[in-house]
Amino acid sequence: MRFDEFLSEVLYNPQKGYYFRKKIGEDYYTSISFEKLFSWTFANYFINLNIENILEIGANEGYFAKEAIEFYKMKNKKLNYFILERAMFKEIEGVKYIKNLKELKEFDGVIFQNEVLDAIEFRRFIYKDGKWKELYVRDFKEFYIDEIKDKEIIKYLPENVFEGLIYDVSIKALEFLKEQVEILRKGFIVIVDYGYERDEIIERFPNGSLTTYYKHSVSDNPFENLYEQDITYFLDWTLIKNFLKGLNVDIIVFENQGKFLLENGILEIAEIISKNLSELERFKIFNKVKSLVFDFHNFYVLIGAPRGT
Ligand SMILES: C[S@@+](CC[C@H](N)C(=O)[O-])C[C@H]1O[C@@H](n2cnc3c(N)ncnc32)[C@H](O)[C@@H]1O
Repeated sequence: MRFDEFLSEVLYNPQKGYYFRKKIGEDYYTSISFEKLFSWTFANYFINLNIENILEIGANEGYFAKEAIEFYKMKNKKLNYFILERAMFKEIEGVKYIKNLKELKEFDGVIFQNEVLDAIEFRRFIYKDGKWKELYVRDFKEFYIDEIKDKEIIKYLPENVFEGLIYDVSIKALEFLKEQVEILRKGFIVIVDYGYERDEIIERFPNGSLTTYYKHSVSDNPFENLYEQDITYFLDWTLIKNFLKGLNVDIIVFENQGKFLLENGILEIAEIISKNLSELERFKIFNKVKSLVFDFHNFYVLIGAPRGT
């Protein structure tokens, strides 16, 4: 079985799959776990761009959505909010849920996704005997190496690399991005996620960037804690940017998350949130700002716009 097929089963099986049962916070936190600091800073940014339609992909329980809707209301701004979420959650009020992108046909606004591309099934490739091969899974317990069957995907793999390098990449995430670009008539695609430029990925992760999270401990064995642990990898931003450019999307922002939040008013948002709070509560809010700005150091914000819009 291919590694992405293994991940489809352990992460997305509708009965047992990890994302269908586990809550964010049990094994890892995301930026969305940080009060309203993250969501309101982005909502404010979207208001400044005159955005009235947001499609959030992979919204999970919808915390970002709830808070963004609240912020728009506070500012008396009109907002239509759509969610496409692969796992099933209780629907939240004021949101239109869609089951696939084609339902929208054409979309004007922002397509937003925080830590979603890293959660889409990826494949593992190894450079061996002078060529790329693939790591497959045997019996849900070990890897074995074999030829790549769909040779056309080799164009996504790095060139001039060293023997033994393992490179993790989600071809499915690239296809999904293409579908998003296809419905985006006017507006922006916003991707927030962890990763590095290609050279740095190769340098940091010669054995692949596969990472597992189980009860807040980090490991790299995907065959442990089956169905119970998150299995993810780091995005290759060089690939994502080139892929989007190839789809006629201009990259208008590509910035470290902390810098992006600071430049776009997280401190002012922290002031709004902490108004009328005690000194202690205020201190806690500003500590969370510090965490969001400094602890998420390998997180980036990419904003792309269809060329000519
Ligand atoms: C790591 S969680 C991040 C959740 C949330 N965005 C956050 O930052 O807290 C990834 C989410 O993306 C969802 N997801 C993965 N692939 C998806 C897809 N193709 N379409 C919609 N949702 C998807 C998963 O079900 C999961 O809820």
